[in-house]
This record gives sequence, C-alpha cells and structure tokens, in this order.
Amino acid sequence: MSESGSHIYQQAAEAPASPFDVSLRPPVFAEFQGQQKAVELLTMRVEAARQRGDVLDHVLLCGPPGLGKTSLAHIIAASVGREIHVCNGPQIEKAGDLAAILTKLERGDVLFIDEIHRLHPKLEEYLYPAMEDYKLDIIIDQGPSARSIQLPLPRFTLVGATTRSGMLTAPLRSRFGMVSRLDYYQETVLADIIERSAGLLDISLDHEGAKEIAARARGTPRVANMLLRYVRDFAQVRANNHIDGPVADAALTLIDIDRDGIDEMDKRILEAIIFKFDGGPVGLNSVAVAVGEDASTLEEVNEPYLIMKGFLKRTPRGRVAMPAAYVKMGVPPPVRPAAADLLP
Ligand SMILES: Nc1ncnc2c1ncn2[C@@H]1O[C@H](COP(=O)(O)OP(=O)(O)OP(=O)(O)O)[C@@H](O)[C@H]1O
Ligand SMILES: [Mg+2]
Repeated sequence: MSESGSHIYQQAAEAPASPFDVSLRPPVFAEFQGQQKAVELLTMRVEAARQRGDVLDHVLLCGPPGLGKTSLAHIIAASVGREIHVCNGPQIEKAGDLAAILTKLERGDVLFIDEIHRLHPKLEEYLYPAMEDYKLDIIIDQGPSARSIQLPLPRFTLVGATTRSGMLTAPLRSRFGMVSRLDYYQETVLADIIERSAGLLDISLDHEGAKEIAARARGTPRVANMLLRYVRDFAQVRANNHIDGPVADAALTLIDIDRDGIDEMDKRILEAIIFKFDGGPVGLNSVAVAVGEDASTLEEVNEPYLIMKGFLKRTPRGRVAMPAAYVKMGVPPPVRPAAADLLP
C-alpha cells in the first residue's frame, strides 16, 4: 500500500479529533447512526433519570478508536441538558488537578474523562469516593500538620471512554452503573453516515459512491469521513465534482486502499504469522517484534479489525491465521488434519 493509503488509517487511529471531526459529530441520539443496543440502553436510562428528576448513573464507553465515544459523551450531556467538562486521563497529573475539576461540577453535570485507562492509579483512589459517595478526601499541608478534609460534591455523571477496557482496574470498572461497548459499524450503516456527512459538507455523492467508500472504512466512522474528504478532492479535480461508484473506486485505488480496508500494517501482521510463524499459534509479542510495531497498538487497533474480518483468531496459545488470511496473501491455506482424522 502506498504512503497515503495507510496514512489515512493510521491518522484515523491516532489523531485527536480535528475541526472537521467536530463539525460532523452527531449532536443528538437521533442523528447517531448504528450501535443500536448501546443507544437504546443509554436513551432509556437517560429518560428514566429525567422522569425521576435524578442524575444519570456513571457510564463507561469502550471500543476501538473513531467509533463515536466522544460523540456519545457529548450527546449524553446534551440529552440530560447539562454542561460537559472534558478532560483526558493522562493529563490529570496530581490529586490537586482532579480536585480542581471535581469541585467545578454542578449537580447533574457530565464529567467526561477520555482515555480513562491511562489515569494514574493513585488518582483512581480519589475518584472512587467521588463516584460512589460524591465526596472528595483531600490532604492539606505536609509533614506533621498534614490532615485530611472531606469536601462534599454535587451528584454528577462520570462518562469514561477507553479503547482498552481490559486495562481498567476492577474497582474502577465496578463503579460504573452502565458499560457500553461499541462495535465496528456495518457497511450499510457507514454508507448512511457517509451520506449524512456529504450532506453537511455539501458534497455531491450518490449511494454507489457512499457504498464504495464504506467498504474501505474499516467499520469506523472517523475513517469513513476521512476517506470521504479525500475522495471529494479527487472528484473536484478529476471528475466533475460528483462522487459515484466508479469515481470513488478510482480515487481509492489511486492510494492503494484495499477493498477489505486492509492496510500495510495489517498485511505485515498476516504475512509474519503465515510465513515466519507457520500460521501460528504465535504470541502477540513475537508478532509485534516481527512487524516492528508496539504490541499494544497491534492489540488495540489492528487485531480487532482483522478478527472482525475473519483473518485472524485469538486462541489461548496465541494468534492463528485463518484461511481467509492465506487467500488474501495469495497462498493456499495449509491442509490441517480434521479432528476426526486424529482419532486413533
Ligand atoms: N454513529 C455515528 N454517526 C455519525 N457519525 C459518527 C458516528 N460515530 C462517529 N461518527 C463520526 O466519527 C467521528 C469520530 O467519532 P468520535 O470522535 O466520537 O470517536 P471516538 O470513539 O471518541 O474516537 P477516539 O477513541 O479516537 O477518541 C466523529 O467526528 C463523527 O463525525
Ligand atoms: Mg474520542
């Protein structure tokens, strides 16, 4: 794959939200497409809290990058009609930072902590009583005169977002009243999202064009929007400013974007497992060394998509390449003895 093709996927996985992202963010549940189950539960809980005049329970949003966690956090705040306070796990360095954030909250406000799995473990201990009993224990002074005082907090809703729910400590996770797991989007839903974005950006696009882009968007709305932006430029310069199926296909072929949305790194992973490790099972760390990428990036960004597409399987003994991966790499899948043949 060329630089530009893999670049778009990489950027979508890592870049912070751009102004472009923000302008396309669905502002209300009704405009948030897909993730039906998560949305249904959230709207129900929001409605129940509203009817009782109560404050919404804490919500944990998990899922790969670009699936809409930040968008949902903003929608939740809008739907309870309260202010959202946004912060990022690794940016909160000391107890004082957290105290400053918490003491600014008013009743019913939403505190959104992005990348909550990267919050310092020491700070989690301050967060527990804040989440559970709405109070903050802080230590003032140092040495012999140090003492702890307790500040009452208004009731608030903590919305945590994480791409690595497995990295969250059990005590933190158990303090969320709701855990919503976001999955990759189906192509038909992505096509709808692309059509909505095209409408907002005044881009002329037909359904076939939207479908072509959706197929290569790795199940991810942020990728879909980035590809749309690229195809718009292509159409403007080379195709009469209108995106139909053939134009989208030509644009995406130009940057070597695979029809399955497989990028350079995905290919290297599959190649390593098939050719260097005999198809697996092989441990994640060995794969990471073989492809020269960080193990956590592989686990968080590449693997979920490869598994969803049926190229890879995680087993207790390691990663295994599936027959589809061999087909993708253009080699015949190995003939493994059927279980029945192994019986004596
Ligand atoms: N369900 C959706 N319907 C329409 N657009 C969506 C939807 N989900 C996400 N998007 C679009 O995708 C972009 C990325 O979404 P968002 O920033 O909420 O993802 P995220 O899960 O917070 O990603 P990250 O983990 O990288 O922070 C948004 O700007 C929005 O335009
Ligand atoms: Mg986000």
